[in-house]
This record gives sequence, structure tokens and C-alpha cells, in this order.
Amino acid sequence: MIVIGIDTSCDDTGVGIVVDGFDILSNVIASQHGFHEPYGGIVPAIAARRHSRVINRIIEMALREANISFDEIDLIAVSSDQGLSPSLAVGVAAAKSLGLALEKPLVGLHHVEGHIHSNIMAHRGQLEYPFLCLTVAGGHTLILAAHEFGKYELIGRCRDDSAGEAYDKIARRLGLGYPGGPIIEKLAAKGNPHAFQFPRPMIHQDNFDFSFSGLKSSVNRTLDKIENNNCKVATEDVAASFQQAVIDILVAKTKYACEKTGLRRIAVAGGVAANTFFKSEVIEMASMNGYEVFIPPKDLCIDNGAMIAGVGYLAYKEGRESDMSLDCRANAPLGSLGVRYKASTKYLD
Ligand code: KG4
Ligand code: ZN
Repeated sequence: MIVIGIDTSCDDTGVGIVVDGFDILSNVIASQHGFHEPYGGIVPAIAARRHSRVINRIIEMALREANISFDEIDLIAVSSDQGLSPSLAVGVAAAKSLGLALEKPLVGLHHVEGHIHSNIMAHRGQLEYPFLCLTVAGGHTLILAAHEFGKYELIGRCRDDSAGEAYDKIARRLGLGYPGGPIIEKLAAKGNPHAFQFPRPMIHQDNFDFSFSGLKSSVNRTLDKIENNNCKVATEDVAASFQQAVIDILVAKTKYACEKTGLRRIAVAGGVAANTFFKSEVIEMASMNGYEVFIPPKDLCIDNGAMIAGVGYLAYKEGRESDMSLDCRANAPLGSLGVRYKASTKYLD
């Protein structure tokens, strides 16, 4: 079954063509970074406009790269849940138009279910349910217990800024551009991660939640102080110390979630997972504790259409299908268990 997957949940226009849920024929991602850079973050109205400008071209590119025609598509899968509503709406409208024109079935999916499946696609035959899924991006930072396909439990999430957002905001404060993650990572490589003792909010709390806004405020206060004293900001040291704090929190919470859930496989996804320092620290923590870590290659780690095509196939096989009333939802429950969000470890008892 040839499935086209469309993801316009945030600021990347992604279209992928996948056969039978796993074999990727193409995965085209059009980044909008340059359009948001002047603002230091994503502007939803600009994101939606850019998606609608390029979506047809990206669909055509994905088909061309996969070397298939419109007639060969068997199913249309689209991210309809979770993300920026104006952005999601563009993908949903495109998917519905395709469904009508081609007279093919349509399935609307939760964007995060795509991230979960992307790791299985990337590590076919190695990563099996159940596993812990840590998604660290600009739009979300969350920990899920993935019990089986369609059965996920959200056990931790960010209470304020996501990890990626914190990177982006600190980069903006330092006048470094957008997206902040890669720029801060590069600077941090030249800095001292112990130069500033920034806080690690919630790190010792008995839950799997995250909070990065206190860390961001602490960095801002430190920068204010330095600037008010007319001193030069050692940008590399600030970047390295900030990054160390973020990574310490992510790794500690992941370890705690493994200990409490008993899950021994960790699947990581999202833009922040591209960070070399984060990768090496999570891998080290896992090897010290006998856990396995799975991190997909970058194109499957960030938002993309192939993961939606893959999960769309499995969902359709299970009887999930949408009709032309498909709408998008910025916040939506995930999987048959829904968003069973619990701030404490109670669910594990
Ligand atoms: O998954 P993604 O492409 O889009 C969503 O937000 O869903 O993630 C983008 C986020 C941005 O906040 C960006 O600053 C961050 O991922 N990011 C990084 C790195 N590359 C991208 N953060 C830290 N280190 C990186 N190398
Ligand atoms: Zn995402």
C-alpha cells in the first residue's frame, strides 16, 4: 500500500511517500527557518502562509522523488492533531483535496504518534514495544510510555517553555538568530559548561515533568547583570552552561522515568535530539544503566511527512479512517488511552 503523508504541524512542510508503513520512497521537508529568523521564533500566521504557498510543490517533489504518479497513491495520511492550528489546517485542507480528487481514503493522525513511529521506522527489527519515548522539540517536550501501537501514556510534559523554545529564546536574547539550538550547540562547544551555575528546575521532583522557563529567566538575569556592569558577555560560556543545564534535566528525567516504569528502551525524537552533546549524554546514561537508546537520523527526527505516512498505514489497517469533516486540533488526546496526564508517579503503582 502506497501512502502519502503530510505534516504541516509547525514550521516545516513535510511530505513523504511510504510503502506498507516502513519503506520510505521519499521524505521531502521544506524548512521555513529563514522566514521566522527576523522574529527570533515561529510566527503562526507566517508559518501557515508559507505552508499554503509551497504545499503543492512539495507534494509534487515527493511524488517525483518516489517515482510514482498520483494514481498510484492508495491512502492519504495527514497530521491533524497537535501543533499550530493555522499550520495544521493547511495540511488537512491539502489532504482532503487529494482524497476527493483521487477518490482515496483519508486518515487524520496525532502528530506525536508520528514521532513515536518514526523511531520504529528508523530501527526496524530492533526497536519494539514497549518503550519510553522522549520527544524534545520546539513545540513539545514530553515523555511517553509507548505500550503498543495506539496505546500510549503521556507521563511527563513541559509545564511552560519546551526545551527547544528555551534554546530559541536564549539565542534570541544573545542576538544569535533562529533556530537557536544549532547555533547554541556550536558556541557551547567552545565554552565552559561550569562557568555559570544555572538552575535545573524540577530535576529532583518526584515526577517526569519539565520546566525550562526558570532556567531561561536565570540566564536572562545573569546577562542583565553582566551588561549592567558594562562587562563583555562570554557568549560561549553562557551557551555551554545553559546547554549543560538543559541536558542534565532531560537526561535525569529520562533516567527517572526508566527506573519508575521499568522500561529499558528509550526512543528519542524531535529537533533537540539532533544535539551531539545531548545524544552522547543520553547514550552514556543508558549504557551505565543497561538501557538501549534509539535516535533516528535527522530527517526522521524532526517533523516530517514520512513518519505520518508510516503511522497512517498502521492506523488505517486497524480501521481508523477520517471523512471530509476532518478538522484540526491544536491540543488533542493521543492514542486509545488518551492524554492520561498524571503529574506524579501514581500511575505506576
Ligand atoms: O522537531 P523540530 O524540527 O520542530 C518542532 O518544534 O516540532 O524542532 C525544532 C526545535 C527548535 O527549537 C530548535 O532550536 C531545536 O529544535 N534544535 C536544537 C538543535 N537543532 C534543532 N536544539 C538543540 N541542539 C540542536 N542541535
Ligand atoms: Zn514535532
